Amino acid sequence: MSHDSAPEPLSSSKGSPLTGTIRVPGDKSISHRSLMFGALAVGRTTVKGLLESEDVLATAGAMRAVGATIEKQSDGSYTVDGIGLGSLLEPEHVIDFGNAGTGVRLTMGIFGSHNIAATFVGDASLSGRPMGRVLNPLRDMGTNVIAREGDRLPASIRGAEQALPITYRVPMPSAQVKSAVLLAGLNAPGETTVIEPIPTRDHTEKMLAGFGAEISVSHNENGERVIKLKGQPELKPQDIDVPGDPSSAGFPIVAALITPGSDITIENVLLNEHRTGLITTLIEMGGDIEIVNRRETGGEEVGDLRVKASNLKGITVPAERAPSMIDEYPVLAVAAAFAEGDTFMPGLDELRVKESDRLAAVARGLEANNIPCVETEDTLTVTGGAHDIGGGTVTTHLDHRIAMSFLVLGMAAHKPVTVDDGAVIATSFPTFTSLFEKLGARFSTNTSEAA
Ligand code: S3P
Repeated sequence: MSHDSAPEPLSSSKGSPLTGTIRVPGDKSISHRSLMFGALAVGRTTVKGLLESEDVLATAGAMRAVGATIEKQSDGSYTVDGIGLGSLLEPEHVIDFGNAGTGVRLTMGIFGSHNIAATFVGDASLSGRPMGRVLNPLRDMGTNVIAREGDRLPASIRGAEQALPITYRVPMPSAQVKSAVLLAGLNAPGETTVIEPIPTRDHTEKMLAGFGAEISVSHNENGERVIKLKGQPELKPQDIDVPGDPSSAGFPIVAALITPGSDITIENVLLNEHRTGLITTLIEMGGDIEIVNRRETGGEEVGDLRVKASNLKGITVPAERAPSMIDEYPVLAVAAAFAEGDTFMPGLDELRVKESDRLAAVARGLEANNIPCVETEDTLTVTGGAHDIGGGTVTTHLDHRIAMSFLVLGMAAHKPVTVDDGAVIATSFPTFTSLFEKLGARFSTNTSEAA
């Protein structure tokens, strides 16, 4: 899980147009939360379409460590037999979250208001990421924390015996921070309030309501979202059908747009308004993306996407759109390399603290493949239409989305593109290469042959 093994270079190269119909795996955010909330309910939750990636399986391990029983059934669905809010057992071992930022941050929230001690570790990427954004509000709620310098992992917490409900204004646009505070608030008596100046994905709010929590969302006089949660509810088990991950869908969407002659359909993609920034942006750039068969499942909007190769043009992506496409900038940068003119992406400061410093990783990857770009502290400008692009090797820094984005680049670039480690893709999209091969893409593990 921690990718201590030797890196596995992987290349992609230009082939025939991409065609066919696929489904991408289940949404990562909803998958993590299904297991967590199932563990906090009393009784059996069933989860269809769970994303079986390393990140989500790490969360399953953490929930088992506090007493939940999580099993895969013969039909492929998962069952979670919850132990109930307030009844978590103390884990006997250190909890290894691998690469999973969402997993560890939300779990810290849950454990932080339970009177148990736990120690969290992760891979080199996760150990470099800031945990103070979650640990600080938890300290306010009474959680004791010992963490490495700068509030990095490894970190140990002892949850509060009686957590204090707080009012917390989230200082950066982060669904993980919002969620960690709400999840800690679940086991605090009284009302926990989270003020969210910039809206982010709302899966925690929606799903907690589905599990029976008393949670309300309103807006204050400044237009900020105000989320109020009544502590110590009895959570009721749910039957969850996880829709396809729009962040994973971003890869075939962009690949089809930039590979001439392509025409693909991606079925059953989550279309939650806080997750569709990439689709909006690509349509503004001239992308032929048709959303068909819009419907609702389990309180979320989903649809099928028909995507055809298109002539794209560069645009300015509004900074306020960033939270709704925060994980999609690497693949958007690849689309921008095929657009006419410049694509300007402001408001990217949060990209610096993702699985890698994604702003730098994307810029270095573009440069390695002859694509002109300018990186500032919080913006990226990509100039499209360069000749002779590709041929480079990209350093992934244990970042799945950097690996997948640059493999998409190789599908349409003039020369093959190599990523230094394809194994990291298992973090979120283990079926990436097989799904793309089904559409007609070509990969090679023999990188000397591809180059
Ligand atoms: C996520 C929130 C986002 C996103 C991550 C998943 C979530 O992180 O990048 O992949 O499920 O809550 P931040 O909260 O750090 O923006």
